[in-house]
Amino acid sequence: MARIASVVLSWISEWRRWRRWKAGQGSESSARTQPVDVLEERELVMGLDFGTAYTKVVVGDAVEAKQFAIAFTRTGAEPASYLPTCLYIDRAGKMGLSDMPSHSTSCLRDLKNRLVDSPDGSHVFAAASGNSVTALEVCTGYLALVIREAKRHFAALRADVYQGLRLVWQLNLGIPTAHDTADEELEATYRVLAMASWRVAMKSELVSVGNVRSTLAAVQHGSGEREDDGGLSAEDIEVIPEVVASAVGYSRSDVREDGLHLLIDVGALTVDMATFRLKAADEDLDSDAPDEDVDDKYAILESKLLYLGAESWRDEQVGKITGDSLTARRARALMGQFGIEDAVLRKLAHQGLNVEAAATVSISYRNQCCEWILRLLERTLRSRDPGAHYTLEPIRVVVVGGGSTLEPYRIAIRHARLSERVTNEWQPVELETPSSLVLEDGAAYARLAVAHGLGYRRDVIGRIHMKREIADISLVERDDDVRDRFVGPEQV
Ligand SMILES: Nc1ncnc2c1ncn2[C@@H]1O[C@H](COP(=O)(O)OP(=O)(O)OP(=O)(O)O)[C@@H](O)[C@H]1O
Ligand SMILES: [Mg+2]
Repeated sequence: MARIASVVLSWISEWRRWRRWKAGQGSESSARTQPVDVLEERELVMGLDFGTAYTKVVVGDAVEAKQFAIAFTRTGAEPASYLPTCLYIDRAGKMGLSDMPSHSTSCLRDLKNRLVDSPDGSHVFAAASGNSVTALEVCTGYLALVIREAKRHFAALRADVYQGLRLVWQLNLGIPTAHDTADEELEATYRVLAMASWRVAMKSELVSVGNVRSTLAAVQHGSGEREDDGGLSAEDIEVIPEVVASAVGYSRSDVREDGLHLLIDVGALTVDMATFRLKAADEDLDSDAPDEDVDDKYAILESKLLYLGAESWRDEQVGKITGDSLTARRARALMGQFGIEDAVLRKLAHQGLNVEAAATVSISYRNQCCEWILRLLERTLRSRDPGAHYTLEPIRVVVVGGGSTLEPYRIAIRHARLSERVTNEWQPVELETPSSLVLEDGAAYARLAVAHGLGYRRDVIGRIHMKREIADISLVERDDDVRDRFVGPEQV
């Protein structure tokens, strides 16, 4: 029986390869890589972590069991694994990742926020060039440019290795949803976004408002699926919750251990939290995953998505400070990307500025994060599956994301650890760049964990069990403001 299944699987796989090859015939992009022998191909995965502040891309090659973080080059800056999430549009509707000096351009930010705010993608940006573009169009143009640049960079980096091979791509796009309260509308929009941006990237034309608009229309009407998408079909696209992706990244790192985990991703827009149990798959697991010997099992127990990210923290501080004594512009310049940490606040206070209001923002963020960490752990340990043996296990704490080193979040985690509400042993995990991840800059792994996890083919990631079927028992999540229930800084 197993033998028959494996023969059928291999037929399907051959048929899919043939379909891809057939579909790719005639397109400009595939003509360049057209193989003599259609079976000589290499499957690659592009993991796209579309961040609010920065986008990170990792390309995975399962045959070599390696992942490559794409280093983006920007004029006047060293190549870096993070690309600012902003899009320039000129008067003619041409889109670019950097300023186009020849025409008047407008730079659009808040791409991801706007998409999340309007899950059908309909939020309208008014570009200075006079173009009105929707959030979905802007995000599609941006990701098309990112995909194009990533592919170009990757092809140059690996030209020798892939010479004569046909590259077969899959695309994994991270989505900011809690794993069990999937926002179906946003997920559908993300699928359209992934497909349309890939198609635009594969075309030889410039990325422009017109090009993006017509491609989106074709994707939304289900037309033109095979002709101009460079061999990527709907089944080659996965939309994966960011928090799940970072759990996968961690599990493929050299510091992984089996057991109960708390994962916290402090991004620019959101703080994603999840508890999960990680276990190497049973020995007898009948895996058809080639070239990979790991097939993990993840039980995602609980998750929570909070809109309490590092940029919101900074923006709220700006709001408070400008209410007192500074202009928004000056306040932003003072704090740059990093928010105002206590040391900076002290310096500002020394200069005679009243910054106490901004400090209250930090306290509020800290308290809310701490409270949610504790609620998540309580739900995991007491409400989900009372009596489950894992409730006494040590909790391995993995913290990722660019904001993970910032003060309110660090303190929130420390306070949660000291709380008597959860008494399990607490084991902070020191993340290191996995030996399989090739980095061209000195980027901290914590910021690349999501992209790294997205750089694996879905069928080798392992089994992810979403515990949706287990009803919540006792704790009802309250969305009330928890900030009033906490003491001030002087009492901490
Ligand atoms: N060295 C650094 N360079 C840039 N940003 C940093 C750095 N250190 C901390 N940060 C903070 O990290 C944030 C970016 O983190 P990250 O790249 O994880 O966010 P993101 O993935 O874009 O956001 P999200 O996941 O919410 O969409 C910035 O907003 C900034 O406040
Ligand atoms: Mg992120």
